Amino acid sequence: MEEVLETCIAELSKFGVESPRLDARILASSILKCEPTEILMHARAELLDHEHAALLTLVRRRCSGEPVSRILGVREFWSLPFLLSVDTLDPRPDSETIIEAALELVSESQDHEMLFLDIGTGSGCLLLALLSEWKSTWGLGVDISSGAIQTAQKNADALRCADRAKFCVSNWVDTLDGQFDLIVSNPPYIRADDVPGLSRDVQLFDPMRALVGGADGLEAYRKILPDCRRLLRPGGVVIVEFGQGQHNEVESIMRAEGLLRIESHKDLGGTIRCLSAQAT
Ligand SMILES: C[S@@+](CC[C@H](N)C(=O)[O-])C[C@H]1O[C@@H](n2cnc3c(N)ncnc32)[C@H](O)[C@@H]1O
Repeated sequence: MEEVLETCIAELSKFGVESPRLDARILASSILKCEPTEILMHARAELLDHEHAALLTLVRRRCSGEPVSRILGVREFWSLPFLLSVDTLDPRPDSETIIEAALELVSESQDHEMLFLDIGTGSGCLLLALLSEWKSTWGLGVDISSGAIQTAQKNADALRCADRAKFCVSNWVDTLDGQFDLIVSNPPYIRADDVPGLSRDVQLFDPMRALVGGADGLEAYRKILPDCRRLLRPGGVVIVEFGQGQHNEVESIMRAEGLLRIESHKDLGGTIRCLSAQAT
């Protein structure tokens, strides 16, 4: 095993993979069905022929630029495992800023069952992370992609949240009614002209529909934010994520829509990653 692992590391390095040692361990652990930290315990073990062949296939995929999360079909978000599919964005750690902001701003209501809405839910990571924090809340996740909705539903089942989460296909929230205590959204925000400059793994493996927000990257905010006043319960909060440097433009849309108490929230790198606001 040790020798095979070293060969994999050398191959990954040759193809410029950034973390060859870690990636080789993760891929090998997926074959041996153990934790990456347990790989050293298997160092002296011999891989069976079919295990060896399967590992080489995974290493080849990684060498061609496919992210480890796509190869394994799973990504950890808010310390929970989320299944991915070709229709879902690979959730980014920066989006956990939305969950942190929600924990800061939203407190459990004593007089009604709280309802959360996730617009452009993808894998369902935001909504399901929120439901994992507030155990007696309910949530609705919407997405234009039926494939994403199916994956979000599978994640709700796997995370035992299916009884509190509903997912449905919807073009933003045009036809949606209801009164929500919290609305979250990480919509597509990349400017169309910036797509050629995206890294190869993003261009090849994330769905374009999850990335591109029109010519100026702000199309989704112009669609979503006008509906928030209608969909927020009095005192309810909306939190939206955006790209680096877009906070002034998103804040202008929020102000134009009459949203109040606008606050910015930074990610771990100190970048303003999302804005929260209230309708009343
Ligand atoms: C940046 S991804 C975010 C996914 C997930 N919430 C996350 O944070 O990982 C944006 C999502 O918006 C969805 N989307 C794009 N256009 C939409 C539309 N018109 N109506 C609803 N959802 C849309 C995409 O399919 C994608 O899942």
